[in-house]
Amino acid sequence: MDRVRQRALDCGAVESVVVDARSEFADEFVAPAIAANALYMGKYPLVSALSRPLITRHLVRVARETGAAAIGHGCTGKGNDQVRFEVTAMAIAPDMTVEAPIREWGMNRDGAIAWAEERGIPVPVRRDSPYSIDENLWGRTAECGILEDPWAAPPEEVYERSAALADAPDEVEQVVVAFDRGLPVALDGKELDLARLVAEIDRRAGAHGVGRIDMVEDRLVGIKSREIYECPGALALLTAHRDLEDLCVEQELAQDKRGLEGRYAQLIYNGLWFTPLKRALDSFIAVSQEPVSGEVRMALHKGSAWVAGRRSPHSLYDHDLATYDASDRFDHRQAEGFVKLWGLPTKVWARRQGSL
Ligand code: ARG
Repeated sequence: MDRVRQRALDCGAVESVVVDARSEFADEFVAPAIAANALYMGKYPLVSALSRPLITRHLVRVARETGAAAIGHGCTGKGNDQVRFEVTAMAIAPDMTVEAPIREWGMNRDGAIAWAEERGIPVPVRRDSPYSIDENLWGRTAECGILEDPWAAPPEEVYERSAALADAPDEVEQVVVAFDRGLPVALDGKELDLARLVAEIDRRAGAHGVGRIDMVEDRLVGIKSREIYECPGALALLTAHRDLEDLCVEQELAQDKRGLEGRYAQLIYNGLWFTPLKRALDSFIAVSQEPVSGEVRMALHKGSAWVAGRRSPHSLYDHDLATYDASDRFDHRQAEGFVKLWGLPTKVWARRQGSL
């Protein structure tokens, strides 16, 4: 935090305000993302995308408190973040001007590093290790340098929050995640607020090499880019949450929810957090989460996090319906009529077509 404050002052700021927004981030942004199983392109837990609306809200707050008419960001013109900062500002402070000097000056990454070096401003990048890193509670992102070659394997030095498989323990570790209406509330029986819980499972899953994501991503501005993410806690929690939903959510609802999850992830990615569509989807998701309470036992080992068991007071799993042994209560005779009627349209159609 002090380093962040000092860097702003070194860059010429007259005042630097640094905010620890971890709890706010967890409760207002990560929690809905978990409920929505939000993964952009089915892979990316939206680490940066989730943080931008919150950062913008604090920017606007400080601007209001200091009587400023504008806020600013340091994004280039090629990424998603400029869109997220500016569209969020449009939503919550439509009167506010947004300044984007890096985009305006056309400064590239080498130029920015040189600018800092000339002024003796310490930045945690070098020309031979030029990764662009963004990091928060939900994960860590890396771009640039050798990573821009989608065929090149990411060097080990890119990673910080996940162990290399060779260094991960040989033994499987188990962790029990408890949920209350879709929200993770305890680890191994110990209640934790969400920010602490995410940090804790991130550390434990990361030690097993869980959470590395290497993907080619479709940016909103039309570019495909190669991205490296480390999200041990996020992937473990999303895996656990989705599994508990499978146990507790009625199947028609579950199916429609799955359809909306991709849309929800996309709107977060595209900077539309503070919008009517987001609120409407949140209402739908809130109803779906009513039965999602219970426990999921996760196993962590050598880069994998998988579900080893689940239970819930709202479980819809009925052993006597599912079993293949003598206690079976499923009415097999009803299946005959069901299959006949279910297949009837296909049969009528096939008769008309003749044999295929
Ligand atoms: N591509 C990711 C996203 O759009 C990560 C962005 C990270 N931002 C950064 N300035 N390095 O969410």
